[in-house]
Amino acid sequence: DDQASGHAAQRPLWSNRLGFVLAAAGSAVGLGNVWKFPYIAGVNGGGAFVLVYLLCIALVGVPIMMAELMIGRHTRKDAIGAFAALEPGRRWWHGAGWISVAAAFIISSYYSVVAGWTLDYVWRSLHDGFGALAPSVIESQFGTLLENGLRQGLWHLLFMFLCLAVVIGGVQRGIERWSRILMPALLALLMLLFVNGLRSDGLEEALRFLFAPDFGRLSADAWLEALGHSFFTLSLGMAAMITYGSYLKPDENLFGVSLRVAGLDTLIALMAGIAIFPIVFAAGLEAASGPGLIFQTLPVVFSQIEGGALLAPLFFVLLAFAALTSNISLLEAQIAYLIDERGWSRRRASVCVAGAAFTVGIPTALSGNLLKNWHLIGERTFFDSADLLASSYLLPLAGLLIALYVGWFWRGEAEKAELIQGGCGGLYPLWHGLIRYVAPLAVTVILVNKAIQAGL
Ligand code: PFF
Ligand code: NA
Repeated sequence: DDQASGHAAQRPLWSNRLGFVLAAAGSAVGLGNVWKFPYIAGVNGGGAFVLVYLLCIALVGVPIMMAELMIGRHTRKDAIGAFAALEPGRRWWHGAGWISVAAAFIISSYYSVVAGWTLDYVWRSLHDGFGALAPSVIESQFGTLLENGLRQGLWHLLFMFLCLAVVIGGVQRGIERWSRILMPALLALLMLLFVNGLRSDGLEEALRFLFAPDFGRLSADAWLEALGHSFFTLSLGMAAMITYGSYLKPDENLFGVSLRVAGLDTLIALMAGIAIFPIVFAAGLEAASGPGLIFQTLPVVFSQIEGGALLAPLFFVLLAFAALTSNISLLEAQIAYLIDERGWSRRRASVCVAGAAFTVGIPTALSGNLLKNWHLIGERTFFDSADLLASSYLLPLAGLLIALYVGWFWRGEAEKAELIQGGCGGLYPLWHGLIRYVAPLAVTVILVNKAIQAGL
């Protein structure tokens, strides 16, 4: 069984380019696209923000994605092993790998709890439906869920178990196989909801909210938000893309695959906006901020519109699929380390990683109830602290180190050019300029700003 053995000589590969693109897009497309992007675009100036966001994806996100894939593809190792292989003497750089894998570990623990909420809503929408309930009752259900640690814990357990069932199957027969099933399913579901949005009375108002450029609302914070989100949404700084890149075949054109993955991620974020906002506005509701948009406003909308009893479960299944393919990439980043560097079997590594992430996720599931008053960083609960630490600090820090490393310290211009171009010439100087100057500068600005905001 080649998937179960830890020998580098038998290291697995994606079966072809499409398999990789679907798996990597599965990692990228997640809660960030369906829930966060539409909202931040709406409040930050609609079309003006979308333009800035596209710029950030193209000038910072794609170049860093290429750098991560390059590190993985070149070394054929997990993120920690990759830096150790590139820089055996300079241990300082190994920190970039450790930070990425630590971020993957922390995020996989609470991402699974939030994914558990989506399972709870799949169940709810199928079981009692939202249709018979008053809006205030539907809205209160979310609070009731957050107050129930056991209920959240059980969904978290089920979700982590599903992830384990996928990753234990290995790269081709687990991750790739399920990405090939779940990603097209996700696209089909989104298409349905997208067409439903197009036909809604609220379409015009939604298009204005999302796309009408209002440069007046485009604050400095909006730029930072766009930059930070372009990072999170493309799964950068969390070892996921280094790990997935390490299973790529040698002749793969990294520029081409990065564009495909980033393009799919962006397309799905834009489609999600058009699936969600028209029906919210047609129902005469506000585009709520935070988790309320998905877990309170939308259920109310589904309870009122024609076909809502069908659209509701479809929407939450879509979210659960998106979260599943994202979380397995976070788990795989950790599993690859244990297999490559520690010689563990895939089975043992998968069970231990999923078990550890589940365990650390428990205090997150308890953050709205039993541990409500347990504050870790400032006034933040365990959940909020974990999120702050991982997505505000570890992630940009890893991204900065990766950009600096690949741009300035990885000597071997010919090697890098070969990895990127693989035949499509002329792009290397452009990419090199972006990874050397633009990306590190942009990420430094995010980091400094986060630190100032947090009062550090
Ligand atoms: N890219 C995912 C999203 O947009 O929801 C979040 C994510 C998943 C980040 C997996 C990092 C990762 F490794
Ligand atoms: Na995303």
